[in-house]
Amino acid sequence: MNPIKIAPSILSADFAKLGAEIAEIERSGADWLHVDVMDGHFVPNITFGAPVLQAVAPHTGLFVDVHLMIENPENYIADFVKAGAHMITVHAEACVHLHRVIHLIKEHGVKAGVALNPATPVSAIAEVLDDLDMVLVMTVNPGFGGQAFIPRMVDKVKQLRDWANAKGHTAFHIEVDGGISATTAKLVVDAGADVLVAGSAIFGAPDRAKAIQSIRDSLN
Ligand code: DX5
Ligand code: ZN
Repeated sequence: MNPIKIAPSILSADFAKLGAEIAEIERSGADWLHVDVMDGHFVPNITFGAPVLQAVAPHTGLFVDVHLMIENPENYIADFVKAGAHMITVHAEACVHLHRVIHLIKEHGVKAGVALNPATPVSAIAEVLDDLDMVLVMTVNPGFGGQAFIPRMVDKVKQLRDWANAKGHTAFHIEVDGGISATTAKLVVDAGADVLVAGSAIFGAPDRAKAIQSIRDSLN
């Protein structure tokens, strides 16, 4: 399996000093930068769009992991690629033509992921799994940081890892997002997750390096 990656979500950062916040988590040992885009329609909250990413992306060497919690994501793929995304993840529930959207992302030369809300089973994406670089298993209902981890999602992670192993897809990423901390990380990693998104557990801590290290230490 891939080495475990920690992906702080800038949703919980101080937006007044976003550039400095990103530089700090980069120095603190983060692997990926998780960018939560919300439109107030697909989820009941609004964050920011491609212009904000475009302002900060040139200043970081982190892998830019964009999580689109928006309707009609196909209309914004080009903008987010231009803004610096390395991976774009769309929600299965937001795409009527999911296969088309996945291939549109890949045509733009970036990696493609699909996110599953807690109520969406793995079977909903069975026909496109082979086309994906990553599945994002939501471990909370998307929309807000700081919510409680839903333990039942551990089994979904396991189903996906079993599928990837059976197919020999060793580089396939399984990302988890929501309620991830030093208490919950080991549960999902043992089930097969390799990318851990954490918002409040990292940006809510006074010492971000310590917070990242404590998640890593919890995995042993
Ligand atoms: C939830 C977002 C998450 C969120 C996680 O809708 O997709 O990335 O920032 O926040 P925590 O880690 O605080 O649950
Ligand atoms: Zn997210």
